[in-house]
Amino acid sequence: MSITEHEHTVEDGFGHIDETVLRRIADSWPRRATIRTDLDQIAEPEEYDEQLPDYPERLLPFADHPLYLAATPEQRQRVLTMAWLVYNERVIAAEEYVANPTFAMIMHGAFPGADSVQLKRAVQQTHVDEVWHTYMHMIAMQRTREVRQITGEPAYPHTVTYRRLLEADAQVSERWERDLLKLVWTTVSEISVNAYLELLSRDKTVQPLHALVPRLHARDESAHSSVMVEVAKALYVHMNTEQRRSFVASLPKALHAFVEQDFAVWPGILKAAGFEKADEIVEDCRRQAGTGLLVRDFSGVRRIVREMELEDQVDFDFGTE
Ligand SMILES: [Fe+2]
Ligand SMILES: [Fe+2]
Repeated sequence: MSITEHEHTVEDGFGHIDETVLRRIADSWPRRATIRTDLDQIAEPEEYDEQLPDYPERLLPFADHPLYLAATPEQRQRVLTMAWLVYNERVIAAEEYVANPTFAMIMHGAFPGADSVQLKRAVQQTHVDEVWHTYMHMIAMQRTREVRQITGEPAYPHTVTYRRLLEADAQVSERWERDLLKLVWTTVSEISVNAYLELLSRDKTVQPLHALVPRLHARDESAHSSVMVEVAKALYVHMNTEQRRSFVASLPKALHAFVEQDFAVWPGILKAAGFEKADEIVEDCRRQAGTGLLVRDFSGVRRIVREMELEDQVDFDFGTE
């Protein structure tokens, strides 16, 4: 870190930007990255047990709905299979449409403050990991489609996380505002994706591969969250007042987009599984209190807000945990 940067940091009162964190993470990558250590487990996964569901029923927002419960076991199984597929779609979209373009932007110098060698090593490694994650999830989805002989799968809408980014994007006009939105969405995604992956990573009731892929993925992401906290800090000190305000204002929006239940995806799935009253089922759930969130663990964003000393500025109720 240059002397000027250091002075800047101290003067702005942020948590110290510690190059050693990034260096340590980057140094451990060759030993730690799942692309290196777990390739075989993905290439030759455990056998598929057709008796086991593809996705845990308890995670469906309509798991208790009488019309869902009244369906045949085959219909319910088809819903769970497609639920697993969209679970993966949501991960892949976050990586392919949000995180990876942002990592490329950081590497190409779109944001001031990303010049250090250690930061670049860590970001480039993270980018490599993400491409591998997409591959893992893609392989798992292909296997499911083969084994379950899925036909008539609906076209899924863009995931809710990405739709919210597009909506926010449509409300701004400046290039820097759009870049910043991508940065914030990526920051939130990198520090919150583990909470999403943990919905499945320890589940013993589903296909073993459907817990394994999220579990392996989550291992990389615990390093990514530390990388992203440091990256966000490093870029934030170089932002002007307006940009900082925009960063802080976007954080809770991105978090909400990341944790919310995606009601738009379910009618198509239910219809494809033969439910006649698909819209009614989903509308009932949407109206019901307490069904709006898929992920309830906000610890990642709480951490970055604390580390960046933004507690007084971020408008989000993290609840008490
Ligand atoms: Fe990832
Ligand atoms: Fe990541």
